[in-house]
Amino acid sequence: MPEKKTASNFTSILHEDRVFPPHAEFSRKAHIKSLAEYKRLYRESITSPEKFWGRHAKSELVWDRPFKKVMTFKVPDAKWFIGGRLNVSVNCLDRHLETQHANKAALIWEGEPAPDGKPGEERTLTYRQLHREVCRFANVLKRQKVGKGDRVLLYMPLVPEAAIAMLACARIGAVHSVVFGGFSAQSVADRIKDSGAKVVLTADGGYRRGAIVPLKKNVDDALKIVGPDGKSLTSSIQSVIVLRRTFHDIHIEEGRDVWWHRELEYVDDECPPVSLDSEDPLFILYTSGSTGKPKGIYHTTAGYLLYTKMTSKYVFDMKPEDVYWCTADIGWITGHSYLVYGPLANGATAVMYEGAPNWPEPDRFWRMIQRHNVTIFYTAPTAIRTFMKWGTEWVKKHDLRSLRLLGSVGEPINPEAWMWYHEVIGGGRCPIVDTWWQTETGGILISPIPGATPTKPGSATLPFFGIVPEVVDEAGKVVPPNTGGKLVIRKPWPSMLRGVWGDKQRFRDVYWKEVKGSYFTGDGCRRDKDGYFWIVGRIDDVLNVAGHRIGTAEVESALVSHPSVAEAAVVGRNDELKGQALVAFVTLKGSVKMDGDLREVLRNHVAREIGPVAKPDDIRFAEALPKTRSGKIMRRLLKQIASGVEIVGDTTTLEDLSVLSRLSQSEE
Ligand code: WTA
Repeated sequence: MPEKKTASNFTSILHEDRVFPPHAEFSRKAHIKSLAEYKRLYRESITSPEKFWGRHAKSELVWDRPFKKVMTFKVPDAKWFIGGRLNVSVNCLDRHLETQHANKAALIWEGEPAPDGKPGEERTLTYRQLHREVCRFANVLKRQKVGKGDRVLLYMPLVPEAAIAMLACARIGAVHSVVFGGFSAQSVADRIKDSGAKVVLTADGGYRRGAIVPLKKNVDDALKIVGPDGKSLTSSIQSVIVLRRTFHDIHIEEGRDVWWHRELEYVDDECPPVSLDSEDPLFILYTSGSTGKPKGIYHTTAGYLLYTKMTSKYVFDMKPEDVYWCTADIGWITGHSYLVYGPLANGATAVMYEGAPNWPEPDRFWRMIQRHNVTIFYTAPTAIRTFMKWGTEWVKKHDLRSLRLLGSVGEPINPEAWMWYHEVIGGGRCPIVDTWWQTETGGILISPIPGATPTKPGSATLPFFGIVPEVVDEAGKVVPPNTGGKLVIRKPWPSMLRGVWGDKQRFRDVYWKEVKGSYFTGDGCRRDKDGYFWIVGRIDDVLNVAGHRIGTAEVESALVSHPSVAEAAVVGRNDELKGQALVAFVTLKGSVKMDGDLREVLRNHVAREIGPVAKPDDIRFAEALPKTRSGKIMRRLLKQIASGVEIVGDTTTLEDLSVLSRLSQSEE
C-alpha cells in the first residue's frame, strides 16, 4: 500500500502483509494462550461439535432442566440444546448473587453532559441492585398483563432502564424488540405492526448533543399511523410505559400511557424467573435487507446466550475484573450481544454512555476511559476515522493506560485506521480484535483470539469455534486463495438466527437459496494464503453507512412516498468517514419543479420516514433513470456515476443511451 498521511498527520507505512503477533505478556494471562490452543479447540469444535458445545453449555450456563440433545439441523431450521430449560436473566444476574461479585458494579452509566458543559449524571448499579431493578420492572410488565411470548417494543434512550427492561422481558419470557431511538415514528409503527407488540416502553425524551430527542412524541405519532387500507398499524398496543428522563411536557393518553416511576410504586422486588425452553424466542431485532421491508431477525434463548457468553469470554478475553465499554446503542445487535447479555453473563462491569463522542468536547471517550479505568474498548471504524480527524491531541490529554484490549465492529476497518487505533489509543500495547458478524449471526463469527491469533491490519482473521466460513463463487464452489467471492457459513452455530419473524419464506429466500445448504451472509470476502478472511463489504443492495446497515430499497420507497417523486434509485459511494454514503437519483413527477429546497425537503422526508441515519448524502435530480429494456434500473451504472468514475462495461442493454450523459451532467 502506498504511504498515506491522515488528517491527523499519522503516517502509515503499512503493508497489508504486516503481522502483529500477540504480546507474550497478554497471552500468558489470557483465557486462550496460544495459537496451538486455539487450533486444538477449533478442531474439536468442528470434528465433534456436539461434544464441544455440549460441554460448554453445561459448564457455562445455569439450567433449570438439562438439555437432552445438543442440536438438530435441517436446512434452514436449527435447534440447539433441545429439551433444556433455563432463564437468561438468571444467567446474567441471579447466578452472580451467590458469588463475591454480588456487590461489584454490573453497569456504570454516564448520561450526556448538560449543554452548559457540566458533567452528566452518573449511575452505577451493582449486580444485586441491577437484579432488584430487573425484578421490579418485570413485575411492572406483569401488571400490564405482559406474559410469556408477548412482544414488547423498546424505543428508549441509552439509559440503564433500557438494559433493565430487556432483562425484565427475558425474566418473564416476553420477547423484546428494540427500535433504535434515532428511527422515525413510521419505523416504530411498521415494527409494531410486524411484531404485533402489546406494549411500548419509551421515555419522555433522550438527550443528543444537548438537544432533546422527542421519543414519546414519536410514539404518539406512530400510534396514529394508518396503513394503505385505512386501518391502524398499531392496534395490538395496549399500553405505553413512559420513563421520565428529560422532564419536558409530553402528552399522556389516559387509559393507555402510564409513568414508569409510578408503576414501580405498586410492585415489590421479588419476581421468580420463568423457566423457558432453550428454543423460546428471546428477542426480535429488525434489520435492513435488500427489499423495502425491514426483516425481524429473531433469536432464541439457550444458543444465543451460550454463544454471546463464550465469544465475550474468548474474543474479548473478558474476566470479572474487566471494565468493558462497548459504545454501541442497544438499538443494534452489538448493544444486545456485547453491551448487555455477553458482559453480564460473564460477570464483568459494563460501561454505558448515552451521548455523543464530541459532547461537550471531542475527548469525551478518552476522558471516560480514564475516569472509569476501562480495560476493554469496543467501537466502530467510522468512529475511529472520526477520532483521527479530530486529532491526536484530544487523546493525548488523557491517560489510557488502563486499556488492555481494543475491538472493532460494523464494517471493514481500513489498515490506516487500524494502525492509528493500535498506536494512538492502544499505545502499541493492546491487541485489536476486528470482529466480523451480523444481526443474523447473533454473535461474533470471525475474529482474532487476542492471546492467540497474530493479527493483520484490516483482516478479521480466523473463525470462532464451531464456525466454518468459506468464500465461494457463483456455483457455490470454494475459490482459490486471494480470490474474491461470496462469504457463506457451512455449518450451524448456536446463536444463528432462527428466522425472519412471521415470514418463513423470506428466511429461506434470503439466506438459504443463494448457495445450497449454506448460510449466505450477503458479504463479499477473500481469504489469503494463511486462511485469513478479509471482508470486502456487502454484495447485495444493502449499504453500510457509518456502520449501520441500510437497505437501498428502503430509502427508495421512502423517497417515492413523497408526492413530488416519480422514481428513485439509491446507490452507495465510498466515503472517507462513513465508509459508504448514500446517493439518490430522483426523477420528479411531471408538474413538479426542481429546486434547491426540494433536495432538503426530500432528505428530511427520508429522515421522517426511516430516521436521520438513512438521509441521502446527495440527491441528484434526473429526467430519467438508466434502465434495461426489461425495465430494471441499472445500478451498476448509477454507482459509477455516483463515484464520479468513468462509465465502463457493457451498456448495450441500456434502453436509452442518452440518459447516461444527461445523468452525469445532473451533478450540481
Ligand atoms: C458488516 C453488526 C467487515 C458486514 C454486528 C456485515 C463488517 C454487516 C464487520 C452486519 C467487520 C460487520 N468487518 N465488515 N468486522 N462487522 N460488518 O447486522 O457487511 O448491523 O454483513 O451487524 O456489517 O451488520 P449488522
